[in-house]
Amino acid sequence: MKGREMHINKLVLSGVFGVSLIITACSDQGSQQTGIANPVGEKADVIQLSYDPEKYTKGLELYQGACASCHGKQGEGALNWQQKATQGKAKPPPLNGTGHAWHHPMHILKGVVRNGTARLGGNMPAWKDKLTDEQIQNILYWMQSQWPKEIYNAWYLNNQEALRNRARGKK
Ligand code: HEC
Repeated sequence: MKGREMHINKLVLSGVFGVSLIITACSDQGSQQTGIANPVGEKADVIQLSYDPEKYTKGLELYQGACASCHGKQGEGALNWQQKATQGKAKPPPLNGTGHAWHHPMHILKGVVRNGTARLGGNMPAWKDKLTDEQIQNILYWMQSQWPKEIYNAWYLNNQEALRNRARGKK
């Protein structure tokens, strides 16, 4: 468990904090009236906040079939998710913006869903043999549509930084 936490922390530390000052500068886009963001454009660096009902509907359907049994119908997570379950494994955290999924850039979120966390000592199943990348993207699209806009914006800036770091060859 420790190893996993350290692993994730290392990946998300850069850029999560210290973004609050600029958050207000990049708020009010049209879609925020609907609360539905579009974080999964073809190119990650042209991510737009926009309303895409088709992706939303597909993502929601897939989410209900594959993820809701553990993460809750609205992504609210397991009851008392912050307490470890009996075997010392994590309970399913919320995905609705009240947990820490927003700390993770898109490539990490996709990796968690594709590969699960068993190899890191966690309980999240791997989905790469059951869902296509596009399906996973649509689910994550739906997930992010549930986030409050401040959370989404903080994620967005963090994700931009992760993309820049990756482009420069850093992990
Ligand atoms: C059998 C229960 C279970 C199912 C089904 C499940 N998850 Fe999870 N998920 C977990 C657990 C437990 C964790 C915490 C993993 C850990 O800490 O090792 C987790 C973690 C995550 C995280 C990381 C969250 C964070 O705060 O870092 C994401 C994202 C996620 N799951 C998405 C999904 C999606 C999308 C689906 C459906 C395709 C799904 N999960 C299906 C149990 C599940």
